[in-house]
Amino acid sequence: MDEIEIPEAIREEIDLPKRANFALSLPLIIGVVTCLGLVGLLSMFLISLGNKSIPTAVNQPVIKSASPTPKVKNSQQQSTPAAKDISPKNKQTLQNFSKTGTTVKPGQETLLGHLPYDVAPESELVSITIDGRLKLRPAAAKKFQQMQAAAKADGVNLLAISAFRNTKEQEKLFFKVKEQRVQNATTRAEVSAPPGYSEHHTGYALDIGDGNAPATNVEDEFAQTAAFRWLKLNALKYSFELSFPPNNPQGVNYEPWHWRFVGDRNSLETFYKARN
Ligand code: DAL
Ligand code: ZN
Repeated sequence: MDEIEIPEAIREEIDLPKRANFALSLPLIIGVVTCLGLVGLLSMFLISLGNKSIPTAVNQPVIKSASPTPKVKNSQQQSTPAAKDISPKNKQTLQNFSKTGTTVKPGQETLLGHLPYDVAPESELVSITIDGRLKLRPAAAKKFQQMQAAAKADGVNLLAISAFRNTKEQEKLFFKVKEQRVQNATTRAEVSAPPGYSEHHTGYALDIGDGNAPATNVEDEFAQTAAFRWLKLNALKYSFELSFPPNNPQGVNYEPWHWRFVGDRNSLETFYKARN
């Protein structure tokens, strides 16, 4: 059959709907492709979120270990979730965890967060008070008295409250007070070391008060005194450091009054060697 020649004008008319169809469907295709792309991106985003949350949940105990929670005294601190839900196992890990990130060696295990210390030979101690009641090792005594004199020159009255203690004295302090206060061993250990585990045995540690604010002696409020502010600024010049700062790795309560001397080889080894 002969092909019928379609005039140009009519051919255009026939083609028009096809072109119109294509013109109409192009935005539709673009829309579908864009939607698919967006769905894909959204899925990838959700998957990546999911991947991030898995290790967080798995690592939760590790995170707790990395930021050790101290045993706490006041109720406000006790109500923090980290303090409440810490497991006994993690607590022991924290107690064995030193500032340097190493654990205490076998044979140097802590007891309720406290490290074992040898008792200084009493014959080697020297007095730091006029009545001779309070004693330290000579190097620590000398530096403490220098520090006391420097503070006095600044109008600050540093008062020694307690220094060397033998195991018998620490025993009384730990067990007698525990009974008087009707405390269990763990609670008592938050503020007092068991006998054999006190820094006071070493002859390098002492409790310092503010002679102008005796009501703050061995109290958290000591941290608000002029004596404590002065110590914070100057104690390191005399090689005294705070033994139990807030959040200390041993988990002992914050004791702003308790300072230890680390100004010679023996004192440094006493406090750091067992941990490292
Ligand atoms: N108060 C400190 C921890 C001691 O008893 O040695
Ligand atoms: Zn003390």
